[in-house]
Amino acid sequence: MAMLGSFSAADFFPYVGWIVDFFTGLHARREKCFHEFDEFYQMVIDEHLDPHRPVPENEYIVDSMLRLFKNQSDGGILTQDHIKAILMNVFLGAIDTTSVTLVWAMTELMKNPRVMKKLQAEIRSSAGKINKPLVEETVCENLKYLKMVFKETLRLHPPAVLLIPHLAQKHIKIGGYDVYPNTRTHVNVFAIGRDPETWKNPEEFYPERFENEATGIDFGGRDFELLPFGSGRRVCPGMTMATVAFEFVLGNLLYHFDWKLPDGMETEDLSMEEELGLTVEKKIPLCLVPAKHI
Ligand code: HEM
Repeated sequence: MAMLGSFSAADFFPYVGWIVDFFTGLHARREKCFHEFDEFYQMVIDEHLDPHRPVPENEYIVDSMLRLFKNQSDGGILTQDHIKAILMNVFLGAIDTTSVTLVWAMTELMKNPRVMKKLQAEIRSSAGKINKPLVEETVCENLKYLKMVFKETLRLHPPAVLLIPHLAQKHIKIGGYDVYPNTRTHVNVFAIGRDPETWKNPEEFYPERFENEATGIDFGGRDFELLPFGSGRRVCPGMTMATVAFEFVLGNLLYHFDWKLPDGMETEDLSMEEELGLTVEKKIPLCLVPAKHI
């Protein structure tokens, strides 16, 4: 993530930029990362190709790709490098984004005890009816307030604040401005999510603003007021998985534990400062004390 988020001259001056990257050491560090990842992905592929591996109940993503790879007719274009590239996409797209969102959600909940109480009450009253060690996805997906909290967290803290850079393919006009072909564009979804012309009290963490589902704004890419997953052809393909993962993890953290700040720390002391990177993390790590809920 650090490599991808750092400035690379070769991105902007493809023919000569690599010389700068060579002298700054970026090129060497990138190569090292590449080889480490490549070896790791090769190990994952080999493990899935092992004939002695127990057959899983559901096919995993690597199995699906290997099946496509095996079934392609002669002259097929899919190679193991393609599988590695897709795995890399999934790794980069899935992990930091989801965990960063969870950390911001917990931070906002600690800052807003009213929301925390209401959410815990929703989770505990619904999940309390089942007698299992974990609150399952099927329970979490029906929790309306939990969904609102997810949306509100993404509105205030979209992990990819400028999405992924896009390139204009043809001349367009946006808001009276000319955007010429090959212009690199960034969409500031962070600013869009806090625009006072769209959102009432934009700085406030108030999940109830998403209460009215019928007329409300959703993050699927059609409502341009809320675009944490982007929009259009390159919209995040992991949106559903991100929702399930977020609801499952947060649902369980709040079902099983009550959370407190370390001794001597007050809500006002919680820092909301951001660390700039490919995904925008909390600069000062969140430190909380869990108490088992019986
Ligand atoms: C809260 C969690 C997540 C957020 C906020 C998020 C956000 C995004 C955004 C903003 C983009 C770029 C869209 C654009 O520029 O128009 C993207 C792309 C992508 N995301 Fe996610 N994502 C999340 C979780 C996931 C998960 C769980 C996966 C996979 C399991 C995933 C896989 C991908 C992939 C593969 C791309 C690249 C798609 C392409 O290049 O066409 N993401 N995501």
